[in-house]
Amino acid sequence: MFLKFLFKPRDPEFSLGDDIKLRYLGPADLNAFRDHIHELHFEDFRDRFNGLVSDYWLDKYIARSLNEAIVIGAYSGDHLVAVAELHTGGRIEPGQGESAFSVASDWRQKGLGTILLKALLRAASENDVSTIIVETGSQNHAMKGLARRFGAKMQFATDQSIGRINVADGLRLAARKLERRNFPAPPFPVGEVPPISASLI
Ligand SMILES: CC(C)(COP(=O)(O)OP(=O)(O)OC[C@H]1O[C@@H](n2cnc3c(N)ncnc32)[C@H](O)[C@@H]1OP(=O)(O)O)[C@@H](O)C(=O)NCCC(=O)NCCS
Repeated sequence: MFLKFLFKPRDPEFSLGDDIKLRYLGPADLNAFRDHIHELHFEDFRDRFNGLVSDYWLDKYIARSLNEAIVIGAYSGDHLVAVAELHTGGRIEPGQGESAFSVASDWRQKGLGTILLKALLRAASENDVSTIIVETGSQNHAMKGLARRFGAKMQFATDQSIGRINVADGLRLAARKLERRNFPAPPFPVGEVPPISASLI
């Protein structure tokens, strides 16, 4: 009886309506990205940037990400509610990408982070990135939990936790464990195909 309960199939993990659409973001999405970041609650903003940053730094960071990184946005209607970034190039080893995630505070724990990580895994595999690096504050249980779901082993380093997701393994886990909800690969905005190589500030 106990074992049966233990191995009961889990409910579908995505509880999102069909109104959520994913698409790649480019330079034209600067205002939407900035508004999304400013809408984060204080703790979420701090977790996203591992501290506080100035508006000037933030504007430069966002512009650079949209120009150089792979950035995927999740829209509810015309409202940008979550963003995933994959940074490559510069000081980052070839074949690796550094990730970052932000889910609007009111949208947390509804499966958006999972959907975005799955989309980022697909984008990584299409761009010869075999390892996604997740670096977050050691107290950020949400991000650590999300990364572990896709096979990351989070390691503690000073006040940071760093994990690596093997992209092939992550995709296999996504296919095996997660609801088979087929989000189409987000199309690049016309004329604004972000190059894969980029460096992180
Ligand atoms: C981290 C973050 C992206 C997760 O997004 P999300 O949409 O809430 O994640 P999901 O709903 O897909 O949850 C996926 C898994 O993450 C983990 N998780 C999410 N929220 C959690 C929480 N508050 N506490 C512990 N684990 C949590 C769980 O393992 C969860 O799986 P489960 O629901 O089956 O237990 C989101 O919380 C966020 O944007 N936080 C603020 C910014 C940030 O910290 N970014 C990361 C550093 S770059």
